[in-house]
Amino acid sequence: MTDRIRLDGKVAVVTGAAGVIGAATIRLLAERGARIVAVDRRQDDLKTAVRDLPASAQALPIAADVTSEDEVADYVRAAVDRFGTIDVFYNNAGIEGEIKPIVNYPLETFRKVIDVNVVGVFLGMKHVLPVMLKQDRGSIINTASIAGLIGSHEIAVYSASKHAVIGLTKSAALECAATSVRVNCVCPGLIDSRMLSAINEARNRSNEPLSIEKIVNRVPARRLGQASEVASIVAFLASDEASYVSGAAYTVDGGRIAG
Ligand SMILES: NC(=O)c1ccc[n+]([C@@H]2O[C@H](COP(=O)([O-])OP(=O)(O)OC[C@H]3O[C@@H](n4cnc5c(N)ncnc54)[C@H](O)[C@@H]3O)[C@@H](O)[C@H]2O)c1
Repeated sequence: MTDRIRLDGKVAVVTGAAGVIGAATIRLLAERGARIVAVDRRQDDLKTAVRDLPASAQALPIAADVTSEDEVADYVRAAVDRFGTIDVFYNNAGIEGEIKPIVNYPLETFRKVIDVNVVGVFLGMKHVLPVMLKQDRGSIINTASIAGLIGSHEIAVYSASKHAVIGLTKSAALECAATSVRVNCVCPGLIDSRMLSAINEARNRSNEPLSIEKIVNRVPARRLGQASEVASIVAFLASDEASYVSGAAYTVDGGRIAG
């Protein structure tokens, strides 16, 4: 469709690209004309996600751990070596950690969640920003969550990590305010995904089981979101249509936290 947002020729680096939201996003960005650098630590699933892209897509899969500064520097260098630039950075890799109240939460898991969800996002921006600032052009989109805007029982550490992602996003946007580099984040709500199922299954083991109908009833839109609906907002924020949008946290949640 010609009236859809186009990203022709843009180079988009996406982390967590083998996951549910990441794979949907590389597909949409490629369909809109972007060249893709797909990063994930799960090599086999990454290959599958890249294989599912449209035949015309140009894509470079890179196996990397976003918590390793050397590996982050390497994927940024590989993207620039291959495509000459980075226009869009979807900084999306994340983990849910364990689903437990704070009093039972292992410190080791706390540190792991912060390492992936906060340090990983920080390192990605630390290494991509110099490329974008040098060319005075670029759009970074971090993945936070509605759990970054409100508290949530048994995922306190995940929630804290996503609050931190919003703080990093706003601060990075201010640091780039005098340039043409924009930094925003998306805050998905209840997305039909492995992560949502994992959180619900763990909660159901420790509490009264909550049916999917009851969960959906808490969403004003009366349905779960689809990963493609998160990808659509990423495509908008990546595009020149969002040229005056920076420092924003976009909820994609069917109105879940509007009330
Ligand atoms: N699914 C939801 O309902 C939901 C809601 C709000 C926010 N989110 C956020 O959206 C993002 C994507 O979630 P998803 O639902 O696609 O989950 P997912 O588990 O399907 O995908 C996450 C991907 O990140 C990768 N990853 C994890 N740690 C990594 C590391 N150290 N280095 C490199 N890659 C790593 C995983 O291998 C996986 O492929 C996450 O940041 C998540 O917190 C998801």
